[in-house]
Amino acid sequence: MAIWNLGSINIDLVYRLDHLPRPGETLAARSRAQGLGGKGANQSVAAARAGSATRHLGAMGDADGWVADRLSEAGVDMAGVARLADQPTGHAIILVDAGAENAIVIHPGANRAIDDQGLDRALAAIGPEDTLLLQNETNGQLAAARAAQARGARVVYSAAPFDLEAVQAVLPHVSVLAMNAGEADQLFAEMPEVPVQGLLITRGAEGAEYRDLTTGAIHRQASFRVDAVDTTGAGDTFAGYFAAGLDQGLTIPQALRLASGAAALKVTRAGAGDAIPTRAEVDAFLDDQPI
Ligand SMILES: Nc1ncnc2c1ncn2[C@@H]1O[C@H](COP(=O)(O)OP(=O)(O)O)[C@@H](O)[C@H]1O
Ligand SMILES: [Mg+2]
Repeated sequence: MAIWNLGSINIDLVYRLDHLPRPGETLAARSRAQGLGGKGANQSVAAARAGSATRHLGAMGDADGWVADRLSEAGVDMAGVARLADQPTGHAIILVDAGAENAIVIHPGANRAIDDQGLDRALAAIGPEDTLLLQNETNGQLAAARAAQARGARVVYSAAPFDLEAVQAVLPHVSVLAMNAGEADQLFAEMPEVPVQGLLITRGAEGAEYRDLTTGAIHRQASFRVDAVDTTGAGDTFAGYFAAGLDQGLTIPQALRLASGAAALKVTRAGAGDAIPTRAEVDAFLDDQPI
């Protein structure tokens, strides 16, 4: 049993400013912080910290060794991540004003230059006990989903950033579709019936639900009450922990509670990949909860 994840790896560069720059304006930042991000990297860190064997598939530039080190230190197997000489590591330039409003520029770089044939070769070893995670920040989604499905693996697709054409292209090869409330609204507006086994819908502080479309059962999980300071990566933490829970044989209600605890702890900390809690931290947090 292992989690495979075809996912983006980004460097998040966060600049704090008094206000967001207007066209033509040059502004000095008050501070700069650098951290691990990208939906893919976040989900891999979450799955590995949850305790599942996790293999990341993707690409980075040939510099930025600290990024690969941080994923490895979290327990992620990086053997399937190519280092490209002609592409920079994906990065996000995040501007945050005094009122916490933000503006973000993403450069996909290596995340959109992944070798499709290499994916096929790597996924030759995935099996029916395994899970493939995918999000919409890389190329190769369709090839990977198809290869994993053909070998009987569970395929969990996070429809984020939301793009209707991208979801519709992979959907025939997806077992579980994961979305936040806004993404779910956009999808259901176009596709009231979604032909997958399960829908995972997260609703921020309002909780989460898993709709088992094979039985019609709906499992609901409340969000834990915490003081939220930064919700970046909450959905990725939830998705990675949920997939790891299923990979480890938890029931859906158990996996939902585990993921909700992990995501609740994440939002109490600033940052994305670096702020994802360990399993020991999540277990201790859950032990203290009344429900
Ligand atoms: N303010 C919050 N308090 C507690 N848990 C939260 C909070 N915000 C998010 N979460 C947890 O993170 C999960 C994912 O958050 P959500 O906003 O739905 O996803 P995304 O990060 O993709 O927008 C939620 O289902 C919940 O478990
Ligand atoms: Mg949200």
